[in-house]
Amino acid sequence: MAIRVRGLSHVYRSAGKSVAVLQGLDLDIEPGDYVALSAPSGAGKTTLLSLLGGLEPVRSGSVIVGDVELKGLTGDALAAYRRQTVGFVFQHFGLLGTLSSQENVELACALSRETRTERRSRSQALLDAVGLRERASHKPIELSGGERQRVAIARALANRPRLILADEPTGNLDEDASRRVIELLEEIRTVRHCTLIVVTHNRSLAARAPKNYGLADGILVAR
Ligand SMILES: Nc1ncnc2c1ncn2[C@@H]1O[C@H](COP(=O)(O)OP(=O)(O)OP(=O)(O)O)[C@@H](O)[C@H]1O
Ligand SMILES: [Mg+2]
Repeated sequence: MAIRVRGLSHVYRSAGKSVAVLQGLDLDIEPGDYVALSAPSGAGKTTLLSLLGGLEPVRSGSVIVGDVELKGLTGDALAAYRRQTVGFVFQHFGLLGTLSSQENVELACALSRETRTERRSRSQALLDAVGLRERASHKPIELSGGERQRVAIARALANRPRLILADEPTGNLDEDASRRVIELLEEIRTVRHCTLIVVTHNRSLAARAPKNYGLADGILVAR
């Protein structure tokens, strides 16, 4: 998934105040690239991922992902882009506590018009792929942090994304679990030919990515 960003700016407006976060950012990513992004809190990392992933509409500048120009897309069109292209992995897992691992993954499969049987077998295969076949019936509270994140990764893969955006996916994990989560994302990138963008504060994890960027004054800086 090639990504071409030109002059991307983003301003949040709330309670009569405006916060300019991104200020004319440029970025080029080739299909299958693996990019790590590190910057201080508040620099705009989550904002950038939200714009690339269609969680937030692009109002100023140009963002082309594959052959889709995101500028001007809103509502259903943005949702369709997300569904067809993007897998998100967050720091806080975002799993539904009352559902089992398998149900959490199945729910994401449900978004892509499959029969119940197809969903079931695909969610099993996805849990298998992240090494959690034995934990399919466990609820999040019955899983370790690393296992929860692996369920969240299986869920992110449900729509067969070509772009995986991971926002501090190891933020709540110890060193060992963090490494395994990153290794899993790297393996997925290789096997499924995904483009992978990981936000991380962890220097040794960031160093695994061939391309490293920081964010300062609303634009990217090479590291
Ligand atoms: N919905 C919003 N409304 C107003 N301001 C926002 C909103 N979301 C983020 N901001 C502001 O935009 C700036 C960038 O936020 P963002 O979440 O992108 O930072 P970040 O680099 O991901 O930080 P962290 O490392 O703490 O997650 C911050 O100053 C934040 O307060
Ligand atoms: Mg953030």
